[in-house]
Formats: sequence, C-alpha cells, structure tokens
Amino acid sequence: MATWSAPGKVFLFGEHAVVYGKPAIAMAIKPRVFVTVRRSKNPHSSRSPYIDSCFEETGVKGSVYIHSQLPSSSGLGSSAAVTVATLSAINDEFDLGYSVEKIADMAFGIEKKVQKGKASPTDTSVVTFGGIVFITDGSRRRLPPEQFNIVVGNSLIPHNTAKMVESVADFKKRYPTICEPLMDSIGALTICALHQMGDLPKLGRLMNVNHSLLESLGVGHPAITRMVLASRAAGAFGAKITGAGGGGCMIALCAKTLKGHVEGAIESCEGRAMSTTLDTQGVRKEKDV
Ligand code: PMV
Repeated sequence: MATWSAPGKVFLFGEHAVVYGKPAIAMAIKPRVFVTVRRSKNPHSSRSPYIDSCFEETGVKGSVYIHSQLPSSSGLGSSAAVTVATLSAINDEFDLGYSVEKIADMAFGIEKKVQKGKASPTDTSVVTFGGIVFITDGSRRRLPPEQFNIVVGNSLIPHNTAKMVESVADFKKRYPTICEPLMDSIGALTICALHQMGDLPKLGRLMNVNHSLLESLGVGHPAITRMVLASRAAGAFGAKITGAGGGGCMIALCAKTLKGHVEGAIESCEGRAMSTTLDTQGVRKEKDV
C-alpha cells in the first residue's frame, strides 16, 4: 500500500490562452488530494477517466482510495492532483522506477486524452513540482516563491474543463479575427505580470484585465462575476476566474489584513470562501495509513 498527495493549483494568469501556446503563471495551493493505492487481483475500474487511465498506462492491477481537500470540477486542479498522486502511488507500490519528470509527462498525456487533445501542461506541472510555475509553449520554469494571499471563491457550480476548452475552440474557429487578439492580449499581460511579481497592486490590475478577457472568450458565469466584483469592492488588489470558468472558482489577490473582509464579501454572494497561500511542495509521499 502506498499513499501520495499532490496540491491544488490556481491560475494567476493565462488559462485558455495557454492551450494555444501563450504563456501562463500558475501557483500550487495548500489544500491537497491524498491517494492510496493497493495491489489487487482484479483490474481497476472507477467512474474517473483520470484514474482508469493511470492503471491503463502503467498496466498494473490495483485499487484506489482518495481523500480530497479540494472540491472537484471547480478549477482548482483536482483532476491533475488525483492523476499525479495516483501515478506516484502506483509507481511506488509497484516499484516502476519512474522519475518525477516522467510522472508529470504521463499525467499531462492523460489530461490531454481526457480533454480530447486540447490541454496545456500547466496543471500537471504545478501539482507535480509545487511552487509558482511559468509555462510557455511546452516548457516550464519555476519562479521564486511569493507570499501571495489568495482568497478562493467557489461558486459551487461544477464546470467541465473539457467542455469549456471545446467552447473556446469553437469560438476561435468561428471568429478567429476576434479570438486571436484576445489570446494575444492574455499572453501580453502574462508577460507583464512575470516582470511585476512583487508589485501586488499592479498584479491585481492585470488580474482584472485577464478576467475581462476570459469573459470575452465566453467562459464567464454570473455567479463568478458577482464574487469578482464583491472582492474588488472589499479591497482586493484584483480578482478573476481561475481555471476553465463557466462556474467553478474565482480568486482574489489581497493584503493579509483584508482576507477576512474579502471572504465575507464572497460569502455574501453565496459563494464558499477559502483563504490560501503558496504550497512550495509538489507531489509527495505520505505515511502509509
Ligand atoms: O479548470 P481547470 O483547473 O482544469 O483549468 C483548465 C485550464 C485550461 O487552460 C482552460 C485548460 C488547460 O489544460 O490548461
């Protein structure tokens, strides 16, 4: 039996555009997913295409127990965390000898398959390696740690990443001359953000722009917009959708002293608020239970 955990993640900048080769910045956050794998005689079968794929790819037979601190289908990277932790636990339990890089690559392959060929390596890189990660056209770079205070607002409206990615692909196909400049702008603001990581007011402003561009791509949701506006009114530096959108979560960047205020603003919009910070650790082995 082997138990491994992986953190959740938020997109600070660049979701959706990153699927088309633009840069993105994402950060691992404290809540984790814990996965225990046991050997078994019968082949694994679950309702999760992510977990099924982990067993298919590795060719072993086992059972899985999951304990998650992350809400699923909410844009906090729970599917990537489950995939990376499951592959790591299988690797450990069956002595497969995969490196952590190999696990990140396999997990990306699985996400891509489940998302019908359209996925970026952002989620799987961040949950594997932890920290703040800059992704640009297939390569990743870890950025210095920052003590960002992030309040996550969960709309409690589940979203389907594959569907949202599909809807942006549709929009891009129908209106390339509108969509491509929006993606270019997201790429440009992500590069600006990369050079201002210590300047919270400027980062907040860029997050607000990123949010508007995501809404223009069609991945907004009224419940998310309400929480974004309420967080800004409560004094956050900036707020935006995180992840695929169409429901799921938003994030607000704020001063430590204002976290409670921003949480209250989110809860008053009937969202569920959760304050979090950076997790510098990625996937890790837990004590067997
Ligand atoms: O909703 P999440 O956490 O799965 O994030 C999806 C992010 C996208 O950029 C929309 C897709 C991707 O693979 O990067």
